[in-house]
Amino acid sequence: MKITVVGAGNVGATCANVIAHKELANEVILVDIKEGIAEGKALDIWQSSGINSYDTRTIGVTNDYSRTAGSEVVVITSGLPRKPGMSRDDLISINAGIVKSVTENVIKYSPDAKIIVVSNPLDVMTYCAYLTAKVDSSRVFGMAGILDTARYRAFLAEALNTSPKEIQAVLMGGHGDTMVPLPRYTTVAGIPVTELIEKDKLDAIIQRTKIGGGELVNLMGTSAWYAPGAAAAQMVESIVRDQKRIFPVCAWLTGQYGLKDIYLGVPVVLGKNGIERIIELKLNEEEKTLLNESAVAVREVCSVLDKMNVVSA
Ligand code: LAC
Repeated sequence: MKITVVGAGNVGATCANVIAHKELANEVILVDIKEGIAEGKALDIWQSSGINSYDTRTIGVTNDYSRTAGSEVVVITSGLPRKPGMSRDDLISINAGIVKSVTENVIKYSPDAKIIVVSNPLDVMTYCAYLTAKVDSSRVFGMAGILDTARYRAFLAEALNTSPKEIQAVLMGGHGDTMVPLPRYTTVAGIPVTELIEKDKLDAIIQRTKIGGGELVNLMGTSAWYAPGAAAAQMVESIVRDQKRIFPVCAWLTGQYGLKDIYLGVPVVLGKNGIERIIELKLNEEEKTLLNESAVAVREVCSVLDKMNVVSA
C-alpha cells in the first residue's frame, strides 16, 4: 500500500515521518515543488528506519506525480504557512491555486484515493480540493478538529495534572477563531470535565484553544507542525487500518446540523471508505448558535474563493 504526502514542508515531513514510524504503508511518497527538498527529507526519514525499527520506505520526488500513482490516501499540506499578524484567511488566493493544481495531479494518478487536506485556510482549501477532485465528498475532507481537540486536551491535562490520554473531547466548526469546543461533551476518564475544573479556568482553556495556532505562530514566526503532522497521520491510520475511529473532521455537510453545501468540522467515523458516517450531536441552543456563527464565517471565506473563479462548482 502506498500513501502520498504532498508538500515536504514542516507539516508534510512530520506527517510522513509519523506514517513511516507507525508502518501505515509499505511506501510513503513525499512530493514537493522545490528540487531536492522532498528527496532530502524522505532520505533523512528513511535513514531513521534502522534506529526506530520500521520498514516503511519513504521516497521523495520533485513534482513527479506519476510516482504517487495508486495511492490509498493522499495528504495535501502544500501552500504557504502563516506569518505573524496573518490570519489563515490571508492565505486564500495563493493557496487556492496551489491546492487546485495539486488536487488535479493527485486525482489523475490516484483516482480512488481518500484526500486529506491540511493547507490553510483549512475549511475553504478542503472545499477547493473537493470542487477540483469532483469525487464523492466522503473521500475529500480536512484535518483540523483532531489538532484543535489535541490542543484543548493538552491544556486540560496540564490544568488537571492528568494524562491527556484520559481526556475525550469533541470540537466543532471551522478551523479558526470561531471553532466551537464543547465542554458538555468533554470527559476525563468518563467524568464530565465540569466536575473537575472551575468554569473560569475552563473558559480560559477554551479561549486559548481557539487561538492555539496563533499562539505558536507568534512564538515561532511560522505555523506549527508537530501536532498538525501527527493529527493528519492519525486520520490516515484510521482509514488504512479501517479503525472506524470517531474524530472531528472538516466534512461536507448535506443538511446535518441544519447546514448544507459547506465544509465544517463535525464528528465523523473514519474508516477504509473515508468518512463513513457523520455523527449528529443533540446540540443545545447555545451550541447551535456558536456552530451557526462559525458556519457564517466559513461561508464568507468560501464565497471569496467562489468569486475568485479559481475552481468552478
Ligand atoms: C495550526 C495551523 C496548522 O492551527 O492551522 O497550527
